[in-house]
Amino acid sequence: MADWDSLYIYYFSGTGNARTSAQWIAEEAIKKGLRTDVQSIDRLTGITFPDTNKKNLIGFVFPTHGFNAPPIMLKFIAGFPAGLCPEIFLVNTRGGLKLSKIFTPGMTGLALIVPALMLWLKGYKCIGFRPVDMPSNWISLHPGLKRSVIVSIFNRCEGIVRRFANRILSGHRVYRGLFSLPADLLISPVSLAYYLGGRFFLSKTFVANDKCSNCGICINECPTSSIIMVNGRPYWKLTCESCMRCLNNCPERAIETAHGMATFFIIFINAVNIHLLLLITEATGISPSALWWEIISQFISIAVMVAGVTLLYKILHYMMGFKPFQYLIRFTSLTTWPFWRRYKYVKEKEKEKSNKKTQTRVPVRNLLR
Ligand SMILES: Cc1cc2nc3c(=O)[nH]c(=O)nc-3n(C[C@H](O)[C@H](O)[C@H](O)COP(=O)(O)O)c2cc1C
Repeated sequence: MADWDSLYIYYFSGTGNARTSAQWIAEEAIKKGLRTDVQSIDRLTGITFPDTNKKNLIGFVFPTHGFNAPPIMLKFIAGFPAGLCPEIFLVNTRGGLKLSKIFTPGMTGLALIVPALMLWLKGYKCIGFRPVDMPSNWISLHPGLKRSVIVSIFNRCEGIVRRFANRILSGHRVYRGLFSLPADLLISPVSLAYYLGGRFFLSKTFVANDKCSNCGICINECPTSSIIMVNGRPYWKLTCESCMRCLNNCPERAIETAHGMATFFIIFINAVNIHLLLLITEATGISPSALWWEIISQFISIAVMVAGVTLLYKILHYMMGFKPFQYLIRFTSLTTWPFWRRYKYVKEKEKEKSNKKTQTRVPVRNLLR
C-alpha cells in the first residue's frame, strides 16, 4: 500500500469529460484521506506546491485532440517544474460512442506517450496511464450523442476511472494505455499532421451567426483566450484548439462550424497549393518524385494551408456583416440543423437520478471550476 500524503491533479477539459474524470479520481483520493488539489490548467497562473518533502503524487488529465494531447496540455507539461515528486500518472479521455449496446473506443495515438516521455525527461516516473472512453464531444464531425447514450457511457466510465484511481492510489502500476500501442504508433503521422496543420484549419471553421447576442460567454469561457470581438462579432484566432466549449455553451446556439465554407476553403487552398508546387518544380527543375522534395513539399503545403485559411477567414468574417452571406453560411453549416445536437456532459445530479444504485459522494475540497 502506497503511503501518499497528497494528490495534485492538473487537468484540461473543453467540455467537462476530463474535468469529471479528475473529480472521480480526487473523490477516491479523499476517501483514502489524501490531501487533494484539483486544478484546471487553463486559468492557472502558477504552480503552488505546499510541501515537496511529503509523499506527493501528481496526475494529469486531459482530452485527446487529433490523436495527441491538446497543445495547451503539452505546453503546460513542457513548462512544468522538475523534481516536485518522484511519480506521476496520466489519464486521457477519448471520444467513445455506443452503437446499439456496444461501447466503441476512441483512439489515443500519441496522447499518452508524448506527455509520458516529456515528464520522464524531467525526471518523473510514470506509474500509470489510461485512456477513458468518455462520450465524443467532437460535434464539428458528428451530432452530439443522445442524452441516454451520454448517461450510459458516463456510468460505465465512472467505474473504470474509480477502479484505476484505487489501483494507482494503492501503489499498483497500471499501464492500460499500452494495450493499443501498435495501433497508436501506426496512427502517429496523423497526430503529427494534426499538430502541425490540421488544428489551425479547424480553428478557422467557427463562425457566430445572426442569432449571436454578443453576450461574451464564448470569449470569457475560452480556455485559450482565442476568441476576440472583431467588428462586433466573435472572431476565432489560430490559437483556438477546437475544444468545443464555445459551440456547446452558447445559449443562443449561434456558433456554427461552417461546413460549406470549410469545403470551399479546402478546394481553393488545394488548387493554389498544387499550382504553387508545380510552378516551383518547373522553375527549378526539381524532380517531383525526389524523397527530400516530397518531405519539403509537405511543409510548404502546411504553410500554404495556414496562410490561406487565415486570409480566407478574414474575408469570411468581413462578409458575415452582410445578411445574404450570413444566411448562406448558416444554411450550409450542418450544426445549424435541429438534429445536430450540442454536447453536454452529465451533471452529477442527472446521472444519479438515472443511476439506480446510489453511491456515497465526497465533495472535492479544492478548486474545481
Ligand atoms: C478537435 C477534437 C479532436 C479530437 N480527437 C480525438 C482523437 O484523436 N481520438 C479520440 O478518441 N477522441 C478525440 N476527440 C474526442 C475527445 O477527446 C473526447 O470527447 C474527450 O472526452 C473530450 O473531453 P473534454 O470534455 O474534457 O474536452 C476529439 C475531440 C475534438 C473536439
